[in-house]
Amino acid sequence: FTLPILAPSILASDYTRLGEEIDKCNQADIQWLHCDIMDGHFVPNISYGPKLVKAAGSCTDAFLDVHLMIENPDQYIERFADAGADQITVHQEACPHLHRTIQNIHNQGITAGVAINPGTSLQTIEPVINNVDLVLLMSVNPGFGGQSFIENTYQRLQKMSAMRDENGAGFLIEVDGGINLDNIRKVTQYGADVLVAGSAVFKAKNIPKRIENLTQKAKL
Ligand code: DX5
Ligand code: ZN
Repeated sequence: FTLPILAPSILASDYTRLGEEIDKCNQADIQWLHCDIMDGHFVPNISYGPKLVKAAGSCTDAFLDVHLMIENPDQYIERFADAGADQITVHQEACPHLHRTIQNIHNQGITAGVAINPGTSLQTIEPVINNVDLVLLMSVNPGFGGQSFIENTYQRLQKMSAMRDENGAGFLIEVDGGINLDNIRKVTQYGADVLVAGSAVFKAKNIPKRIENLTQKAKL
C-alpha cells in the first residue's frame, strides 16, 4: 500500500445505490474500503452484517477493512472472513481474551487490528502491539458517522507512534471518525498511516474529486 491510505467508510453512503457509491470510490483508485459493523450492544446503533460486506466486496478490488463494533466478536470472525474481509479489527473493550482473539483472526489468513475508544488508555493494548497488524484510534465515540473529531487524538497519536518505535513494532496506525479536509493533514503529521472518512467522502457532491482532495491533503 502507498501511505497515507484513505479508507472511505460506507456507513455514510447512500444504501439505495451502494454499488454506484463504491464505484465512485473505485474511480478515485481507493486502496481500502472501511466497513463498520455495529450490533446495537457494544455501540448504540445497528449497521449491517456479513451479507452487505460480501456485496460491497463484490463491487471493488480495494482491501476490505472490517471494523467490528460488536460484543463477542470471536463468534463472527469466520463469517466476516468468509464474506471477504481482508482485515478484521476488534475493540479491546470487547475482548477479555484479546491475545487469543487476534490469533483467531490470523488463523483465517487475514490481518488483525485492535481498536480503542477515546476513553480507553493506550496502555491496554501494549501487551499485544507486537501481535497486531494495525491499531485503530477512535477519534469519535463509536456508533455514528458525522461526529466531530476529538482533539486529544493528536496527543494519543504521538504516544502511539512512540510506543510502536519503543517496541520495534510494525503495525499501521488508523484514525477513525470526524476526519475532513480541514484536519486530515494534521492527523497524518501526528502519525496516522490510515485515515477513515465517512461523511467527508459520501456527503460530497463529487465523491472521486473529494477522495483525491483528501488524499492530496493527507500527503506530507
Ligand atoms: C464510527 C465508525 C466510523 C464512522 C466514520 O463508529 O467507526 O468509521 O463511520 O464516519 P465519519 O467519517 O463521518 O466520522
Ligand atoms: Zn469505523
